[in-house]
Amino acid sequence: MPEVDVQSQEIHHQDQHSEVFNPPAHISERAWVKSYNEYKNNYDASMDEQFYAGIAREFHWEKPFTQILDYNFSRKKGRVFVEWFKDGTTNVAYNCLDRNLNANRGDKIAFFYEGNEPTETNSITYKQLHEQVVDFSSVLRNMGVRRGHCVAIYMPMVVEIVVAMLACARIGAIHSVVFGGFSAESLANRILDSQARVLITTDGVFRGPKPVELKKCCDDACRIVNQQLTAGYNGIEKMVVYQRLGAEHLKLKEWVDGRDIWWHDAIKQIDRTIAPPAVEWMNAEDPLFMLYTSGSTGKPKGLVHTTGGYMVTAATTFKYVFDYHDQDIYFCTADCGWITGHTYLCYGPLLNGATSVLFEGIPTYPDESRCWRMIDRYNVTQFYTAPTAIRALMRFGDDKVTQTSTRNTLRILGSVGEPINPEAWMWYHRVVGNSNCAIVDTYWQTETGGIMITSQPGAVPTKPGSASVPFYGVVPAVMRKKSDQSEDLVLDNTDEQFKQDEFYEESQVEAEGYLVIKRPWPGLARTIYGDHGRYEETYFSMFDGYYATGDGCRRDKDGYYWLTGRIDDVLNVSGHRIGTAEVESALVGHKSIAEAAVVPMPHEIKGQGIYAYVTTKEGIVGDEALRAQLKSTVRVALGPIATPDVIHFTPSLPKTRSGKIMRRILRKIAEGLDSVSQLGDVSTLADPSVVDMLLKNK
Ligand code: WT7
Repeated sequence: MPEVDVQSQEIHHQDQHSEVFNPPAHISERAWVKSYNEYKNNYDASMDEQFYAGIAREFHWEKPFTQILDYNFSRKKGRVFVEWFKDGTTNVAYNCLDRNLNANRGDKIAFFYEGNEPTETNSITYKQLHEQVVDFSSVLRNMGVRRGHCVAIYMPMVVEIVVAMLACARIGAIHSVVFGGFSAESLANRILDSQARVLITTDGVFRGPKPVELKKCCDDACRIVNQQLTAGYNGIEKMVVYQRLGAEHLKLKEWVDGRDIWWHDAIKQIDRTIAPPAVEWMNAEDPLFMLYTSGSTGKPKGLVHTTGGYMVTAATTFKYVFDYHDQDIYFCTADCGWITGHTYLCYGPLLNGATSVLFEGIPTYPDESRCWRMIDRYNVTQFYTAPTAIRALMRFGDDKVTQTSTRNTLRILGSVGEPINPEAWMWYHRVVGNSNCAIVDTYWQTETGGIMITSQPGAVPTKPGSASVPFYGVVPAVMRKKSDQSEDLVLDNTDEQFKQDEFYEESQVEAEGYLVIKRPWPGLARTIYGDHGRYEETYFSMFDGYYATGDGCRRDKDGYYWLTGRIDDVLNVSGHRIGTAEVESALVGHKSIAEAAVVPMPHEIKGQGIYAYVTTKEGIVGDEALRAQLKSTVRVALGPIATPDVIHFTPSLPKTRSGKIMRRILRKIAEGLDSVSQLGDVSTLADPSVVDMLLKNK
């Protein structure tokens, strides 16, 4: 680790963003980690596997582990695998709940809940949460759910989504949460892939002023699933429906007797004369959950997180990155449909016995001051959200923040999901944080389970736009191309075969290239559900012996990492990952479309927008009506977040002689470059005149 000279409170200034913010003294004083040197010492200590073993032992292990770490990151040496604490047994839900009850936190509030309407408020203590989880685990058990089975969850942000997740964990079932904004088709694909037999949902929910019919989506998904059953798999056998809205709002169009059951009825039916299912003691490497995420090709992949390692990463990163102390009130706006909701709404906080705010609504309803009012109402000390939300709220002006709240209790402001632009960073710092908070820009991924690169609020000076330095146990490296003319890092499928030996690990501190990780930390996803080959291929084939993040980065002379975005065909729209291949396949699913190519475009609020080039079939005219149809086609296939921002009709797509689409050119046009000279080398195109056509049709 390169040194940052914090003694003299000075860091070499960056060329483009000159300001460096030292941790506010009032934060450092009470922080778990009080100085850069302390961070550095801990970091050095974390290079020894005993570091995480020591932390792991703070949790309850039914059978203590004796083995700490075994792994192989190199395909050349054989199967890629990672095992932490392998011979130990534990249970994550037990550590989230029972362990806190044993530590006298039974009456502590686990969640303050606020629904879509500001008047819908509630709270739940650790003891109450424990009771609900035990009850719901009885429900699952009565439905035949056993250790190792997969349970699908498709719910809005109500306390019951956490109950459902923990109930699965308690009895050793693997939960697969699907974001409630995904389409029926997406839900069906995920159910089919995971072979879930039980689905947990709600009748519906209001998102701002708009009702969303979740149960209807589940019914549609089940229909799709039922058309694709395989030997030994009968689709969803039980659907538990939590009543969020009740009959006056949404009339349920469908109710399948024998399959569908109200959550409250299922709870009523529990036979209280029988003991609830016992805690299932899981092997450290048994799966805890799977979560689907998009890749550059093919269908979304179900990343599998296991028990022991994930627990330790979730707990440790939460404690240090948010500097959580017992009296704090933490507020994370993430939905449990994403990894942030898993690690930093559910598991991380509960493993630390934290009190959190769980918010069902959206930051702009009933008005744009919603979050700021909530911060005051609950005396929030840590607030964690995404750059896209910050940029959206920033647009409404400072008054919406300053006139409605003081935010006096805030200490730490977190950002996650995409690079945060310095302008948004500064606004977050100055306006939301009253220039008195520490900002933590947290870089990580669904695959990594927890935060990888970040500052720690009491210890590490921050530079707006940089995620800063690696967390404990994380060893990043930057891979460079030997013959690097420093063009574009982005991989192009027209690039010749990616040649490993053309790359080397940069040993200089200052470097730019592909971000990789050199050795395992506990929270790394262990496999892709049902497809370990794809796991090895996706993450360990690019550079043998390294985990490839799929991101580009620059490391400055202080050893700070600046993430520069995905280098593969993955879009990051409002912090959500969308594979270009998924959108393309939805577009060509429309009867009028022959071909489609999707690339990112810069978007002021969303970070990246979706720019789709399409060619129509013979005799079909690309007009406004077709544009609207195509947008709706994608919405239906994937969900609203994947709706293209721009549909660009073109007679043909730029292709190489071997027929591959040159996305590099399409990306540049989507970025607004509009002269042939700005598009780089177009000489390998089969038909260079396509470029003129593309520019003309913009
Ligand atoms: C991708 C992972 C991690 C939870 C939310 C997203 C980008 C994420 C940052 C950040 C720059 C970031 C990366 C990464 N990303 N956080 N602080 N700075 N980029 O999880 O859906 O798995 O997406 O999001 O490109 O690879 P995800």
